[in-house]
Amino acid sequence: MASLFDAKKLILAPQAGVTDHVFRQLCIEQGAQLTYTEMVSAKALSYGNAKTQGLLSLAPNETSVVVQIFGHEPQTMAQEAQMLEERLGDTIFAIDINMGCPAKKISSKGDGAALMKDPDLAFAIIKAVSSAVSIPVTVKFRRGFELDHETAPEFAQLAEQAGASAVAVHGRYAQQFYRGSACWDVIARVKEAVSIPVVGNGDVVDGPSAKALFDQTSCDAIMIGRGAQGNPWIFREIQTYLATGEIISRPTPREKMDMAIRHAYLLREHEGNYLARMRKHAMWYVAGLPGASVYRRAFNDAVTFEDFKQIFNEAANYAEKVQESIQES
Ligand SMILES: Cc1cc2nc3c(=O)[nH]c(=O)nc-3n(C[C@H](O)[C@H](O)[C@H](O)COP(=O)(O)O)c2cc1C
Repeated sequence: MASLFDAKKLILAPQAGVTDHVFRQLCIEQGAQLTYTEMVSAKALSYGNAKTQGLLSLAPNETSVVVQIFGHEPQTMAQEAQMLEERLGDTIFAIDINMGCPAKKISSKGDGAALMKDPDLAFAIIKAVSSAVSIPVTVKFRRGFELDHETAPEFAQLAEQAGASAVAVHGRYAQQFYRGSACWDVIARVKEAVSIPVVGNGDVVDGPSAKALFDQTSCDAIMIGRGAQGNPWIFREIQTYLATGEIISRPTPREKMDMAIRHAYLLREHEGNYLARMRKHAMWYVAGLPGASVYRRAFNDAVTFEDFKQIFNEAANYAEKVQESIQES
């Protein structure tokens, strides 16, 4: 495990409703070194739920994936982890257990971040899962559950004792959801508390913030979530910055729109009902372009790949015209 995290790995963070295999494919092409699936319900897997099975589709260039599961029943989770290991073979790098999701529909059932409030059950889950599989088991959690009650360092120790091979820490309390800024000091405290690798997470948006997170916490790898939305290039940018200190130029509007078109094309090819998902990505791709608010409205009416393509091309053409007129004046 350590060998896989010892080169300052850049990881695409799991994001339900966002990091499907198509988005992961684009991020890997742009330099993401490890990817996580969206969180997958162990219970739903045990029922053979078709939609949940769909979350296990892999990208063609994905040679190493972490499957993230959630739940609160140690035996169900262990059994499904075993099934995943058998089914995905060499491609599965690790099973990650979600102990950080603050969403009500998850935590009200005792899953996700609610497990930070029940350390005994969290221990039993990690122990059961890590005993059931031969691949590494990792745990992703937050600074703590309740606001201003930091428990991450002890929780990380508990995870290590229960058999976890690495932990990932998002430096916000569950009760913060995504408000405020992530505390990176807690990641440093977790790093001091355990001897397994620690993945730092929260508010990395470019090369300098990635370097700062590594420097301030001595974490072994970093995980990027929202910074990759509409911006798969972030991995290349960070890699270059870490290696050379150079800030490479951002993609042009045309490059952005070409990526967006490809994204829509791949989603149409591989996902049944992809419109809601593509609208979300489309909004992120056009963010910051001139006329973005107009395109956002247009995406809501887009129902075919051709509709999306036309809007993206218009956005690129208009951005180029605006750019030309700025240069002329
Ligand atoms: C839309 C969305 C969905 C998310 N889904 C998951 C998830 O399925 N599992 C998980 O562990 N974290 C999930 N997260 C949390 C991210 O993995 C990450 O911890 C968080 O966004 C902080 O990192 P960032 O500042 O780089 O975005 C989600 C975050 C977002 C914004």
